[in-house]
Amino acid sequence: MKFGIGICPDDPRIYYDGKRVGDDYDAIIPRIDLPHTDFGFMVLRQFQAMDTYVTDTAYSLELCRDKMRCMQYLMRQGVPFPTTGFAHSKEGYDKMIKTVGGAPLIIKLNEGTEGIGVFLAKDEKVAKNYLQTFQQFDAKVMLQEFLSDYAGTDIRVVVIGGEVIGGIMRESQDGDFRANVALGAKGKVADLSQEEIDVSLKAAEAMGLSMAGVDLMRTKSGPSIIEVNSAQDFTGPDLAEALLGIDLAGMMIEFAVKGKEAFDRGEGVWLRDDIIPPPKVAPV
Ligand SMILES: Nc1ncnc2c1ncn2[C@@H]1O[C@H](COP(=O)(O)OP(=O)(O)O)[C@@H](O)[C@H]1O
Ligand SMILES: [Mg+2]
Repeated sequence: MKFGIGICPDDPRIYYDGKRVGDDYDAIIPRIDLPHTDFGFMVLRQFQAMDTYVTDTAYSLELCRDKMRCMQYLMRQGVPFPTTGFAHSKEGYDKMIKTVGGAPLIIKLNEGTEGIGVFLAKDEKVAKNYLQTFQQFDAKVMLQEFLSDYAGTDIRVVVIGGEVIGGIMRESQDGDFRANVALGAKGKVADLSQEEIDVSLKAAEAMGLSMAGVDLMRTKSGPSIIEVNSAQDFTGPDLAEALLGIDLAGMMIEFAVKGKEAFDRGEGVWLRDDIIPPPKVAPV
């Protein structure tokens, strides 16, 4: 992290490696990794404050890091997701366990990634033990309905600029209910239904993201969104770029170029820290 930030009245500054930068960038494509989240958001906000075009705002990126808030935004937009609960007291747990349909149920750390912090509690006693343990450590944890119809598989839908580029189905290889590639799941190209395409676009739009990796699970009653990722990893052998055979990085850059042109025409209000759908610019 070689960035420095100067917040001076009327003269916002960004330094990289000791040198002042900022005025000469046309577009920022934020790809902020986990250890640098907070500082990364700060740098991104500084670019926004300097009126530099960003493909996605710090506000949207922050939303994605917070699974509970993400679900609240999805709910507001009528996007399907598993029933989710959050509680702070022992009494609250009972209510929430009922709300999510009883055990087996999913317990999830609010800010986990790569499957770490996602548990399947087989009965209510185990669920309460997890909840009380996490509470002792002051961890923000949520309960979620267990989507059992196709457990162990999920689908990553790649969205760029309001269009679905493709989908990758991930399947766990060892009976794990979690389909994270980081845990050994294998990917293959998914044949997406129109409904899956529609809800994925709606999910990305609900989060105000122009570039998103929307994760959904299939259920007998249709797709259910479990997560929306802002900086999706697409470069490994089991990941989207290789499997779809598409230059996704190139598409993102093409989108940024068109997005910048739209920004210069005054389309999209990029400086407000609020959810504003990205400009509809078709990827090439
Ligand atoms: N409600 C659920 N029901 C069944 N399986 C789930 C549920 N939520 C998550 N999973 C499984 O666990 C994996 C990890 O959960 P996810 O919410 O994506 O967390 P992470 O951010 O750690 O990837 C998912 O890819 C999916 O396979
Ligand atoms: Mg995930």
